Amino acid sequence: MEDQPDSSKTVFWTQRWEAGRTPWDLGHVPSALLTFLKRPTVATRVLVPGCGSGYEVRAFHETGHEVSAIEFSAPAVAHAREVLGPLGGQVIHGNFFKHDFGDARFGLIYERGFLCSLPETRWPDYAERMTALIPAGGRLVGLFLYGREPEPPPYPLTPETAAALFDARFRLVRDEPVTGESVPVYEGLEHWQEWERLPG
Ligand SMILES: C[S@@+](CC[C@H](N)C(=O)[O-])C[C@H]1O[C@@H](n2cnc3c(N)ncnc32)[C@H](O)[C@@H]1O
Repeated sequence: MEDQPDSSKTVFWTQRWEAGRTPWDLGHVPSALLTFLKRPTVATRVLVPGCGSGYEVRAFHETGHEVSAIEFSAPAVAHAREVLGPLGGQVIHGNFFKHDFGDARFGLIYERGFLCSLPETRWPDYAERMTALIPAGGRLVGLFLYGREPEPPPYPLTPETAAALFDARFRLVRDEPVTGESVPVYEGLEHWQEWERLPG
């Protein structure tokens, strides 16, 4: 089998952003997030890792949250800052795994298209970093892919791989399949999920 290109590297994504090949880009805030934001939620500090165009930053801001995003591909950062205008300063140009967030912890981290962009070998680092950045009671929420993909990325989860990654530190409190609003590359794979960080 041919080696997959390494999607954990910045160059992989920069080539795609520069070529305008962004099939994951929904073009707007996912309805599942808008539904979530309509529920009574205490305003908190939010992080959007691997934010791409960053549409969601405005949605979190407009609902009272203190939101930051992080993205490591320069053309994506430039694009997100253009999309976000006055909120563009909320986008950090950096690597989610290496950036120094100082003492900051996030009551909410939002996932879409980031975990599934990483080869499975990086998933334990993802779970570790989420565990470190989210305090007990905080949540990792968003759109997670489940199923099979013959030509990854995206790299979808299975219930078993998700349990192995998260169950020690998180509890799945909501899981709803998404229908009718996926980009073709995510079609039939998306679930809205909320993982609550356990104490410890
Ligand atoms: C599939 S795209 C999803 C973008 C966006 N979340 C969305 O839903 O449209 C994955 C994005 O994650 C970024 N990315 C991948 N690894 C990253 C890392 N370690 N730190 C920051 N950004 C990263 C890529 O540059 C790319 O823009």
